[in-house]
Amino acid sequence: MKTGVYVHIPFCKSKCFYCDFVSFPQKNYDEYAKRLIHEMKLCQELKNSVVKTIFIGGGTPSLFSCDMIGKILSAINFKSDTEITIEANPESITKEKIAAYKSYGINRISIGLQAIQSNLLKTIGRIHTFEMFEKAYEIVTQKFDNINLDLMFGLPNQNLNDWEKTLTYIKKIAPSHVSLYSLIIEEGTKFYQMQNDLKLPDESIERKMYHMAKEILFDEYYQYEISNFARVGDGKKNFECQHNKIYWTLKNYLGFGLAAHSFFNGMRWNNTSNMQKYLASGGNIRENIIASTKKSLMEEFMFLGLRMTRGVNKNLFKEKFHFDIKDIYAKQISSLIKKKLLSENENFIYLTDLGMDLANTAMSEFILDMLS
Ligand SMILES: C[S@@+](CC[C@H](N)C(=O)[O-])C[C@H]1O[C@@H](n2cnc3c(N)ncnc32)[C@H](O)[C@@H]1O
Ligand code: SF4
Repeated sequence: MKTGVYVHIPFCKSKCFYCDFVSFPQKNYDEYAKRLIHEMKLCQELKNSVVKTIFIGGGTPSLFSCDMIGKILSAINFKSDTEITIEANPESITKEKIAAYKSYGINRISIGLQAIQSNLLKTIGRIHTFEMFEKAYEIVTQKFDNINLDLMFGLPNQNLNDWEKTLTYIKKIAPSHVSLYSLIIEEGTKFYQMQNDLKLPDESIERKMYHMAKEILFDEYYQYEISNFARVGDGKKNFECQHNKIYWTLKNYLGFGLAAHSFFNGMRWNNTSNMQKYLASGGNIRENIIASTKKSLMEEFMFLGLRMTRGVNKNLFKEKFHFDIKDIYAKQISSLIKKKLLSENENFIYLTDLGMDLANTAMSEFILDMLS
């Protein structure tokens, strides 16, 4: 069996105003890391698998000491070609940490920049300035060539000019990968409470921002997923995030840590999001263990596959489900093609540019009410 591994570090110095990820400003790092390592060591699925990718995400994994990150990684049996990513926030990046990450075999760093205007960063509750990012980026580029930057658009008080400047800066520093996220106001966040007072760009500006990103990044990056762009390489290096591609192609992944999700051998589950329960040693932390049905797998194969610009592989659909994709989805496919949201070539069915803009509408067509 091959698998991806996700490791969740649920700590942040403070909570950004838009964020509903499982992370809090607690400090019991040691206790948590011990429990995490225990969880990984006990995992039979992990023991019997070849680990293709590791993603240490959060939260803010760079809050942990180098030593802790080293111990976590040494609990996983990986190979020299395993893609190993760690998420790092600008304010907690140091030369020592970056050098240690490299020595542990980490080969990809993902940094949350969001925007280059320090006033915007403050508005969204980030605790770093643009200058802090610049210093951190300089440190990271001395050791790593595979670097992702997370950016956000549609932010309160952000205008097209701000966004253009952020994108132009990205082109100048040319990281190997960029993820662009349109702000979602999530329930339970500070922004959710403040939403009537937020000056958010309207929907047409938000869409213009997305199109602007595609235009500005166009010649040096290619878009391979709704939110993800990889730098055009020299033919030898592929900077797409291999770990995320595991999610989008319905391959196995094992999630460790608080609230982490897994999909393995057709089974889905998530770990508890209750920290007390998680830390209680020996406690059963897997919840909602569900065996996928053929119907749910087909739907997921479509939703997730259509996120990628190349689309859903028709031959793979047949191989996996023993049905021609059009035996199941002929009506939906032809109706979406008529609406110009979908297109197809010999091997793939994919969203058009318009389809990418209306992705949720297009994807909802693939929910099946037959089969079980
Ligand atoms: C959950 S964070 C984890 C990494 C790291 N803590 C950070 O903040 O960069 C991953 C990325 O998700 C994006 N994100 C989080 N919440 C979001 C939201 N409500 N809307 C849009 N993007 C969001 C941000 O770009 C963030 O960098
Ligand atoms: S966006 Fe990142 S740094 Fe901010 S609270 Fe969420 S996980 Fe933490």
